[in-house]
Amino acid sequence: MNKELFKKIISKKEFSQLPKKDILLAFEKFDKPFYSDEEKIKLTRNLLRKVYSAFTSKKILSLKNKSEEWILRKHLSTRERLPYYEEIYKRILKSFENKKLNIIDLGAGINGFSYKKMIKSFSSLHQTPTSPHKIISIKNEKNPINYTAIEAIGQLVELMNYYFKKENLKNAGAIHLSLFEIGKIKKIVSGLKRPRIIFLFKVLDSLEMLERDYSKKLLLQIAPLVDRIVISFATESMIKRKKFKVKRNWILNFVRDNFIVIDDFEFHGERFIVFSVFK
Ligand SMILES: C[S@@+](CC[C@H](N)C(=O)[O-])C[C@H]1O[C@@H](n2cnc3c(N)ncnc32)[C@H](O)[C@@H]1O
Repeated sequence: MNKELFKKIISKKEFSQLPKKDILLAFEKFDKPFYSDEEKIKLTRNLLRKVYSAFTSKKILSLKNKSEEWILRKHLSTRERLPYYEEIYKRILKSFENKKLNIIDLGAGINGFSYKKMIKSFSSLHQTPTSPHKIISIKNEKNPINYTAIEAIGQLVELMNYYFKKENLKNAGAIHLSLFEIGKIKKIVSGLKRPRIIFLFKVLDSLEMLERDYSKKLLLQIAPLVDRIVISFATESMIKRKKFKVKRNWILNFVRDNFIVIDDFEFHGERFIVFSVFK
């Protein structure tokens, strides 16, 4: 790809810290002789906007000393989920009581800001009638969740790491990497202790926009390395103020045909499917 065109595409702040690989994948779609350079730039940016930045308010692209809730409200996905986080995490994590978990959040956006909610929900599962106050401290070594976020937008990675450091959350970290770098993702996952749980919340559609059937490839390669995968997608879409039900039969059938579905539930327009290669 022509260096000048590349520079022009990333001169917008929202694309300035995207992995090169993702920009090239988007550009390839429009690198055709019948488009002018201006059109190639415009079409590539439009696609990148749909895949990466459409959900994020520009207000969080620079570091901010704001509360978790403030940040979680500035991203469409986390905002919609905000009232239901604890119920969702309890349901996903319930069969792992009393274990130390590794959660790897692929295409995390800013979901790392819900890390404390994850710990709170998980530690409430450990409570018994005889020890109702046994809430595990997030900062001590007994903290039962190691959390790794992987995200393409560099600014969101910086924002999460800044927050983890400020709050002294030693078991949480974010990595700037594209999910198209499958070898690197597998290496990171394999380096973590089991049980390993993968989150892919509202991400598969984005991957499909750049490479058709890439979600299937990713799931087939990652699933044997982990104990659970949790995918989610929006069940309703708002176009011109009309709500319509979104069907995701392609992914539902694929998951049913290749894995063991452990749970399938919906909270306020977001459907979660929990599955594994093992029982
Ligand atoms: C709809 S948002 C969902 C964010 C988060 N998973 C959640 O549900 O709160 C999709 C996220 O996936 C990220 N993403 C999309 N394609 C990616 C890729 N190839 N590599 C890494 N991250 C990606 C986007 O930057 C965006 O933050």
